Amino acid sequence: MKALIIYYSQSGNTYKVARQIGKGIRDTGADVKLIKLKEADYEMLKEYDLIGFGSPTWKADTPNMHAFIDKLPEQDGKHCFCFCTHGTLPHLYFPIVVPNLKRHGFNVIGYKDWYGDVYMPGMPKPYYTCGHPDDIDLREAYEFGKEMAENSPRITAGEEGLIYPEPEMNAKVFRQAMICSNMLLCPTNPQGAFVRDPEKCLYPKCTICMDNCMMGYIDLSKDPQVFGNRGDKCDDCHECSYCYMLCPSGAITTDPDHKFAHDINAPHEAFEKMLEEDEVTGKFRRLIPLDQVGYATPYVYWHPERPYMKVPKMTDDLDEE
Ligand SMILES: Cc1cc2nc3c(=O)[nH]c(=O)nc-3n(C[C@H](O)[C@H](O)[C@H](O)COP(=O)(O)O)c2cc1C
Ligand code: SF4
Ligand code: SF4
Repeated sequence: MKALIIYYSQSGNTYKVARQIGKGIRDTGADVKLIKLKEADYEMLKEYDLIGFGSPTWKADTPNMHAFIDKLPEQDGKHCFCFCTHGTLPHLYFPIVVPNLKRHGFNVIGYKDWYGDVYMPGMPKPYYTCGHPDDIDLREAYEFGKEMAENSPRITAGEEGLIYPEPEMNAKVFRQAMICSNMLLCPTNPQGAFVRDPEKCLYPKCTICMDNCMMGYIDLSKDPQVFGNRGDKCDDCHECSYCYMLCPSGAITTDPDHKFAHDINAPHEAFEKMLEEDEVTGKFRRLIPLDQVGYATPYVYWHPERPYMKVPKMTDDLDEE
């Protein structure tokens, strides 16, 4: 059997999980290939019997993964699975992504999610989910990969009971949908707009923001230079801040440059309530106590040096560490 895992990852959590899923699949004797979403195309899907789709949770899937799934050609019952990592609000991902994959003719044989640390400018550091994905999560990811590779031929042979049930539409899903709808109804990025100061920009020596904008919103080779969804700034409502986090020179700032001061000592009650409930059901394993969550230090205060973060090294060779 040949399996392909298509993943997107900004801060490395989904990447770590994708690798373990890949290793689990490989240890069943199957051929497996990992590929970053930006290198994937629809034609290559034809060569594989089982496809995995993985991304961080941004309400549901990330906009680039959403767009890729949205344009998929008909898959005639091909087997796939999906997975994600997330912070405190994980419940919308599968109720949205699984039906979207099915709509394109995939037989979605399984899905699984894991908590991950969160790197957003105004979010507390340490975050509620800090420490995930840990070794236990990664072992689970390995086992999930094995399960998907072992189940796929058995399902083809008629054991349809192995297919995971439809994702549940429960009260938590609806509650999270309310929280997320409220965020999405904000016509711009609630963090403000990101702007670029050409005086401080190191282009053409640096191309980090261009290379890593998932939306392809940045092209500094053009005249005039293009930055963000507006051409001169980015206020996309997905709350992305990746270029701002990665920029080494401080050329990218928020406009107005509020530096997320309003996030200091601001507990997120809806997030905490969801986590408490998920801890009770055993879904969430708390690795840091609530009183150690960094309310006083939103990320950009906890890590004031530029760049705020670096693109993690992500190799698609399963033998390379
Ligand atoms: C722009 C943005 C939006 C996010 N939205 C959510 C969300 O709606 N629900 C959630 O649980 N986590 C959310 N997160 C947290 C990420 O899903 C989590 O950190 C994930 O593990 C990151 O994966 P990565 O390291 O592979 O990029 C968001 C993170 C970012 C940067
Ligand atoms: S990351 Fe910053 S310095 Fe680099 S090209 Fe973009 S704006 Fe310029
Ligand atoms: S915030 Fe930056 S990286 Fe994110 S979509 Fe906008 S321009 Fe692209």
